[in-house]
Amino acid sequence: MIMLLALTMTGRTVTTLREGWTFTRDGGVPVAVRVPHDWAIAGPWDRSVDLQKVAVEQNGEKTETWKTGRTGGLPFIGRGVYTTEFEVGDTAGRSFTIEVDGAMSCPEVYLNDRLAGRRGSGYISFYLSLDSLIRPGKNTLRIETENKERSSRWYPGAGLYRNVRIVETDRVHVPTWGTHITTPYVSADEATVAITTSIAGAEDLERIEVVTTITDPDGRTVARDSVSHVNHGRGLKQNFLIGDPRLWSPSSPALYTARTELWAGGRKTDTYESRFGLRRLDFIPHKGFRLNGEPMKFRGVCNHHDLGPLGAAVNRSALRHQLQLLKYMALNGIRTSHNMPAPELVELCDEMGIMMMVEAFDDWGYRPKSENGYGSIFDEWAERDITDMVRHYRNNPSVVMWSTGNEVPSQWDRRNGAKTSARLKEIADSLDGTRPVTNGMDQIKGALTTGFAETLDIPGFNYKPGHYDDAYARLPQKMILGSETASTVSSRGVYKFPVEVKKMATYSDNQSSSYDTEACSWSNIPDVDFAADDDKEYLLGQFVWTGFDYLGEPTPYDTDAWPSHSSYFGIIDLASLPKDRYYLYRSKWNETDTTLHILPHWEWPGREGEVTPVYVYTSLPKAELYINGKSMGVREKNDSTVMHRYRLMWNEAVYQPGEIKVVAMDAGGKPVAEARRVTPGKASRLVLTPSRTEIAANGDELVYLTVTIEDAEGNQLSRDDREVTFEVTGAGGFEATANGDPTCLMPFVEPRMRLFSGAATVIVRGGEAPGEITVKARARGVKPAVAKIAVK
Ligand code: GAL
Repeated sequence: MIMLLALTMTGRTVTTLREGWTFTRDGGVPVAVRVPHDWAIAGPWDRSVDLQKVAVEQNGEKTETWKTGRTGGLPFIGRGVYTTEFEVGDTAGRSFTIEVDGAMSCPEVYLNDRLAGRRGSGYISFYLSLDSLIRPGKNTLRIETENKERSSRWYPGAGLYRNVRIVETDRVHVPTWGTHITTPYVSADEATVAITTSIAGAEDLERIEVVTTITDPDGRTVARDSVSHVNHGRGLKQNFLIGDPRLWSPSSPALYTARTELWAGGRKTDTYESRFGLRRLDFIPHKGFRLNGEPMKFRGVCNHHDLGPLGAAVNRSALRHQLQLLKYMALNGIRTSHNMPAPELVELCDEMGIMMMVEAFDDWGYRPKSENGYGSIFDEWAERDITDMVRHYRNNPSVVMWSTGNEVPSQWDRRNGAKTSARLKEIADSLDGTRPVTNGMDQIKGALTTGFAETLDIPGFNYKPGHYDDAYARLPQKMILGSETASTVSSRGVYKFPVEVKKMATYSDNQSSSYDTEACSWSNIPDVDFAADDDKEYLLGQFVWTGFDYLGEPTPYDTDAWPSHSSYFGIIDLASLPKDRYYLYRSKWNETDTTLHILPHWEWPGREGEVTPVYVYTSLPKAELYINGKSMGVREKNDSTVMHRYRLMWNEAVYQPGEIKVVAMDAGGKPVAEARRVTPGKASRLVLTPSRTEIAANGDELVYLTVTIEDAEGNQLSRDDREVTFEVTGAGGFEATANGDPTCLMPFVEPRMRLFSGAATVIVRGGEAPGEITVKARARGVKPAVAKIAVK
């Protein structure tokens, strides 16, 4: 049983309920689990799970077909019940709140067998007062969740996949999300901060005193204010002036903290901390976006919430790992498609300098996308959910816009489409009003003729670069956002011949080409969106579909194409391994560091003498290619086609074993960087490369180790697919493994994985005690690899 810790100096105790849960699935045998928990990620994979016979209207389909793997083929449908106990002291004069960051789905919260509250969405964070149900001593908490079939277009996860906390405070306290911080004036010299503090439990008090102290990113006090007010039952507002502010931006994510103390009758009753940032957002008609006065395009990605082999169970260090990979590519934005994010993600974006489009819904119920999806509960919950979403994240500097929806068919709804959109925006404006509201629209004609697009601050269009100019000319906002772009498909390390730009290409191995030339019928290759960004000043930038591959939606292998069960859209695969495309985005987005990447691999037994194009993704303007020492000529980026603007291509290169080498030059022709690929010899040894070699001993740190395979000279093999087994001993344990192959049905939760294009990932969890973790990887016919991680 969990004891709420003795009260701290702050007067409040926050206990995250991690250990000690009992879980039952569909009335089955109870098992002990740790939360966050995803009951379905262990599998097994099964084609029949949530098999959907549908015509996906968004993809232009007219007739119903069997959609396989649409929600991932993992057993997420059913009821999951979680129970735990915790103990509290005297409850007189105390207040107890439960905070649930998200529970998939339809959570019902019971304390001591009595309903405390329920929600409809599995993504929404919520809190409930437990004051009328709690009793001194032992309390039993039960959270019930239920997932229906045909409720999602991707893998939703299952159960208590996010954190649950009990917050104990004095009766007079700042409630959850109880401060509202705005920065009305921000310049390089000065900034103003306005803080409105809500107070709960103060109904009987005549006066109330609030003392707020603001500290800068180094923890130095920069402002302080104390107000004593007649208690009028509304929030108390305070204003501050900060000189010499440190502004928040992707390159310098400076965070300030407001420490709020509540005093009642001479007694300090609560201390509440809120983090915020000082930054100025300007969305300027015709001119685009400015952050702190500086022109900037959104170089963003859309991501679903799952963490690949970890499922939906949230983990801060896994999210940080993902964001670090994306930051290296010079990404500056994330769209939380198509739902409310985990708070950990927003906090990390605050800390790492990533601008967020926080999105609420994928479905409003008009011509619903999934029969039992959010559309079926939209009328009951939407206003409440968007209210909570905005209240939750309105202090976070990373959040720069709200999105009220994605490709909602209501774009065609003449009666209610524009009205619903305007209503959702009105709610966001009334609670925030400092951030613009957008929506990812895909129906240009509908959105422009029903008035839908006009209701938004920022018209966001999904996959419509060819219509941007028209929409810009017709719409009053005079700016456009690429709210969802590209949907290029590829499988890491798999190359298809002949190399051609294709739509909806499929092959017998259920893989897509890593030459980055394949997209969907509604989408395009990345180059098209790069050109739009470069050529259109009014375009605010883009959010690429997607940063990471995710479980479910295996387009173009979604129609009776099992075993495909995860996406091909990611710039990075399901095992967190970058695909070639990663370097294409980096070469365009990262303007300070050199990118030079050459593809394909050079290991093609049987392709000798065949045309095997060589592509180079580089930030440099030109390069010379050598095959086995012989020059294949210099290529320079040029405007002849959209691909020539952003890639260097030797389309007539012919495969011969040996070496391909590229020497890249600056504009003056001076060689400045080199990259090569070598045909490897026989497999000799495995190699383990950990993402970190030292972690904190808190039980929650994950380390990603990449396993690759080399010949005796250290040349990597790119086609090997032997099975690798893992052994994790010492101060941590095995967590999960994956290889990024969307067709692979090996479980994520067993310590063995087949290599895919010569690589896989094993994820290890550090324990709570200091020590050393030893990770061993073994495979038939090659030397094993060992890696060590210090846990401190
Ligand atoms: C969009 C949709 C996304 C995803 C994507 C695949 O239309 O908004 O959720 O389905 O297509 O290309």
